[in-house]
Amino acid sequence: MRKIIFAISVIAGVFLITTCTHKPFPIPKSAIITPPPIDSTHHDTTSTVPDTSVCFQRDVLPIFIGSCAKPGCHDPITNAEGYDLSTYSNIISKGLVKYNSSASYLYTICVSGEMPTYPTPKLDSTQLSFIKRWIEKGAPNDTNCIVYCDTNKYTFAVGVAPIMQKYCYGCHATAVAATSGKGVILDTYSGVLGQAQNGKLLGDLNHLSGFYYMPLGGAKLSDCQITQIKKWIDNGALNN
Ligand code: HEC
Repeated sequence: MRKIIFAISVIAGVFLITTCTHKPFPIPKSAIITPPPIDSTHHDTTSTVPDTSVCFQRDVLPIFIGSCAKPGCHDPITNAEGYDLSTYSNIISKGLVKYNSSASYLYTICVSGEMPTYPTPKLDSTQLSFIKRWIEKGAPNDTNCIVYCDTNKYTFAVGVAPIMQKYCYGCHATAVAATSGKGVILDTYSGVLGQAQNGKLLGDLNHLSGFYYMPLGGAKLSDCQITQIKKWIDNGALNN
């Protein structure tokens, strides 16, 4: 009888382990960082004119923060399968081959749809394109991104919703809010309005003491972006 119980627990254990993990990481350590290939099909790395169509801090990090580095997944605490995808140095340390998106596991696993896992939505074509172009230009830690922002644009549709989409949907879209964002919904007007009215939206975005710092795990939004949201609230938080 003991033997049978033992066998059952071994089988159950193996089952649990295999359902909680993914394929082992297929790229050998030596292949992680390859030097830039010297040919004309790649960006000229000596050029003084940077490729500004994609910028890590502006376009790429928010994707990793919102869709991957979530509580219980690839945040620094959970570090699921050894992947902490919350900082530049960790993102490029594993599964990324500079200048080669198709050899970059972090990219291909998103193209195949295997990641992110339910209920986090798969990355859309814009997000995939940002990651691809960033890897193809050598995955630099570009920080001085030009943030396209105009404090005179503060309607809900133009000034507020796009910020929510880029920095907050990963954890606060309706489909994922219960699991990733404590039920706070920010992909609807009424959801954002509620957080505006209770004061938490601005408190969190301004990183005021006593508030949560949002976006969770990510950099503070720019002053311009926070001003857009503040002006929207000050002008009645309309559904405009
Ligand atoms: C990586 C996931 C993640 C991202 C991205 C994120 N949040 Fe959150 N957010 C959370 C979690 C988790 C909580 C719940 C915190 C708690 O109660 O422990 C939360 C809570 C909140 C709350 C309620 C705070 C309170 O005091 O109850 C607001 C408001 C909020 N987030 C706004 C935002 C905004 C605005 C953005 C985008 C700029 C954002 N969040 C991005 C995970 C995230």
